[in-house]
Amino acid sequence: MLYDNHGRIINYMRLAVTDRCNLRCFYCMPEEGIQYVQRQELLTYEEMERIVTLGYQLGIRKVRITGGEPFLRKGIMDFLERISQLPELAIHVTTNGTLTYDLVPKLKNLGIKSINLSLDSLDEKRFYEITRRDSFKKVMQTFEQLLAYEIPTKLNAVVMAGKNIDDILPMVALTKELPIGVRFIEEMPFNGKGSNGEAFEWDYRKILDHIKTQYPSIAKIKDPKYSTSLNYQIPDHKGTVGIIAAYSRLFCGSCNRIRLTPQGVLKTCLYDNGVFNIRDLIRAGASNEQVQEALQEALAHRAKDGHEAERKRKNNPVQESMATIGG
Ligand code: 5AD
Ligand code: SF4
Repeated sequence: MLYDNHGRIINYMRLAVTDRCNLRCFYCMPEEGIQYVQRQELLTYEEMERIVTLGYQLGIRKVRITGGEPFLRKGIMDFLERISQLPELAIHVTTNGTLTYDLVPKLKNLGIKSINLSLDSLDEKRFYEITRRDSFKKVMQTFEQLLAYEIPTKLNAVVMAGKNIDDILPMVALTKELPIGVRFIEEMPFNGKGSNGEAFEWDYRKILDHIKTQYPSIAKIKDPKYSTSLNYQIPDHKGTVGIIAAYSRLFCGSCNRIRLTPQGVLKTCLYDNGVFNIRDLIRAGASNEQVQEALQEALAHRAKDGHEAERKRKNNPVQESMATIGG
């Protein structure tokens, strides 16, 4: 088992398999001038498989594949197939849904536990304004296909003043008939610029108050273990509503997660700027034991929460794009 220096169990690894994306969500990436990582800098699939397996031996039981957009990386389905052989490993994927439609039957066959679909608006025009790409229809087709194949699905919407506030209530309304989770995420400063602005106003309280204007009967439900969201349900609705206080950082106390960037940098917190590079260690010829020891050593110095991790960053402030962290 992996534990950190605060006694928290670590059983969840988030793996960003690429920094590339075919959307340009303004809260994540600048519109142009993106410097993508060189191919040889990326972890290879063999390296990723080795890291996942070594983590599994130490008690990792959940992996989330993220990006960038994970389905942009060639060979990703074969990789998923291989790690799905680990008997007790739950595999989850976060995707923007633009390339996912055709893959849904295969994902179902692989036994993918759930898909988080990033969808910030139910309105085609607003979707375009946020993502700067014309992919709304494809994403909605993916959504319908995920439902048709009964893959547990969550919709993730980043809540942004002046952009998609009008989407909050219609997205909540989806939970009436659909057995999905709709989750509203506070905007974080991971947009390549380093700030979500002084104008940050839509924190978790404001989001909930807004939902209550239309759904006063919304009730708190029990949060799953290690949940990052505060979870709610409207009586008689099939789905649930979650609010992720990603900026307020309410969930650090039970954090069971580590992250790997596409270049193999280990992050023990979303808000730290990387602890060490596992890829370099592997390419220098480290043994399995050495890699596992390095992981354990990193967890012995973990910040207690996202505020401490942010204070300790070497190059403050937070600047990188979410596309290199994977959310
Ligand atoms: N703030 C909050 N969430 C973000 N995401 C990407 N950038 C940000 C940000 N700046 C979300 C995406 C996706 C998940 C991986 O992270 O919308 O749902
Ligand atoms: Fe791509 Fe996701 Fe970033 Fe949007 S938020 S640009 S879909 S990686």
